[in-house]
Amino acid sequence: MSFRKTIVLLLTAFSICTTNFVYASYEPIIKAYRDERLWSELFKGGYLNFGYWENILPKEGKITVDERIRSSEALYTQVIDILDISKDEVIVEIGCGRGCGCAKIMKEYNPKRVIGIDITSEQIERSYKIHRLSFENYPNLSFIIAQSERTTLPDESVDKIYSVEVAQHFSSMHDFSKEAYRILKPGGTIVFTTYFSTSQQGAKAVREMILWVAEGKDNAFPIEEVEKAFSQNGFRDIQIQSIGDKVFEGYDVWSSQVLLPDCSNSYTRKWYEAFIKGYLDYYVIVAKKTNQLK
Ligand SMILES: C[S@@+](CC[C@H](N)C(=O)[O-])C[C@H]1O[C@@H](n2cnc3c(N)ncnc32)[C@H](O)[C@@H]1O
Repeated sequence: MSFRKTIVLLLTAFSICTTNFVYASYEPIIKAYRDERLWSELFKGGYLNFGYWENILPKEGKITVDERIRSSEALYTQVIDILDISKDEVIVEIGCGRGCGCAKIMKEYNPKRVIGIDITSEQIERSYKIHRLSFENYPNLSFIIAQSERTTLPDESVDKIYSVEVAQHFSSMHDFSKEAYRILKPGGTIVFTTYFSTSQQGAKAVREMILWVAEGKDNAFPIEEVEKAFSQNGFRDIQIQSIGDKVFEGYDVWSSQVLLPDCSNSYTRKWYEAFIKGYLDYYVIVAKKTNQLK
């Protein structure tokens, strides 16, 4: 075998090994999203997030499935409005789930390209299946299996990155922000929303209260660590806004409606309690890659 071939083989083997290594730490979360039956009632209708319930949560009576879906879409709107998308841009979503956010952007803004990334192959299959019609109309919409810290996209190839309720799963905010910085063009923006602990103490309490965090499916890092990771990796103009008061209550009412009465003992309804106690909050985070060197 020639020297060149040996090097290529070694590099390929190294890349496969390291990819599997990183993926292995996500095995519990991939398993959780693989089987749709586990969350089909809770997240009926496509989107898979807690929702943004302002002007949607009914003052009395039950929440309808339509209101639940609208709340999830409204959470996306919080992010998309900040992105301020234009037609010549390449947009990437990290953790696209069933691809509804990507399809929404394609239909409403028709940018140059929209790429949805998800670590769970079944989610990518679902995205392709659900939005089949959109592909015929929008050939520039695509979905790929990859992970937040290793998107497989080229350096400086993306104008804007966004993510909705995914970063709580990430193993490392440092690696995520480094990867986001690598693929963003200078002047690019990242906007993401999800829950994080309010402080180091909050993180400890959240680990004790919430099963998913205790099991390592969620990390819910302290928000100060998130800001630090982005700043250390070169992002500037970092803005963090709390939206927990528009998120947790509605989701708690909804989950009490669709889950068994004992669900407060499981993971689902503990998020609202953790928010009320001040341990956890839902945030929108915006950061920019400036045109200057780090
Ligand atoms: C709560 S769902 C949110 C889905 C979608 N953003 C939505 O709001 O409908 C989280 C999604 O993130 C994906 N995911 C989890 N960790 C990931 C990672 N490190 N990189 C990429 N995707 C990830 C999961 O497979 C799942 O589809």
